[in-house]
Amino acid sequence: MPALTNIDACVFDAYGTLFDVNAAAKNCQGDLGDQWAPLAQIWREKQLQYTWLRSLMDEYVPFWQVTQDALDYALATLKIGDADLRKRLLDIYLQLGAYPEVSGMLKTLKEAGLKTAILSNGSPEMLASAVSNAGLDGVLDNVFSVEKLGIFKPASRVYQMAVDDLGVPKERICFMSSNAWDACGGANFGFRVVWVNRFGQAEEGLPGQQEHEITNLSELPPLFGL
Ligand code: 2OP
Repeated sequence: MPALTNIDACVFDAYGTLFDVNAAAKNCQGDLGDQWAPLAQIWREKQLQYTWLRSLMDEYVPFWQVTQDALDYALATLKIGDADLRKRLLDIYLQLGAYPEVSGMLKTLKEAGLKTAILSNGSPEMLASAVSNAGLDGVLDNVFSVEKLGIFKPASRVYQMAVDDLGVPKERICFMSSNAWDACGGANFGFRVVWVNRFGQAEEGLPGQQEHEITNLSELPPLFGL
């Protein structure tokens, strides 16, 4: 028997799970030198911090604004004041590549009759750009952004939105995220969860337990017996 049964839909986090969030800084190594990795880390950590803090402050702005604000913080921290570089980093962020295994994995799930969707903090425009640039339009049934709710993950009504818009009960949805706090959020809500632990991180001390842990998404179809 496959490890995962009674699933109708596979829902994926976007940034860090399908798309390589570090690609923008990595692609600007020529300008950044060995500062590209610290910039990528500060940028990502601050981007996520701002989403959690803004949700708690009830001060939602689109993820694209949060992404720019977090980049400005990271550039200031590293004392980088290059406006052209800032623009290039943001332009690349709108067209982040997908990890190499993503397209084939989604195609395999679709061919097996599973619904596929993104559930992300990303603004609709950001997600449309990333999906199109990565050539994933034909293997994703839906792209859900938190934009219409005005609150970020891990608010439970974000996960509820996927249930409502897919018309699939939470216990028949398999949710994948590389962000451990997001995997916990989805599991705590009631999804079946697979944590895509791309970066070898330790488990979070949060409520919500994933059913499976994989290192990349090529390991997902075998959990369905595919
Ligand atoms: C996403 O929502 C959490 O950034 C991650 O795509």
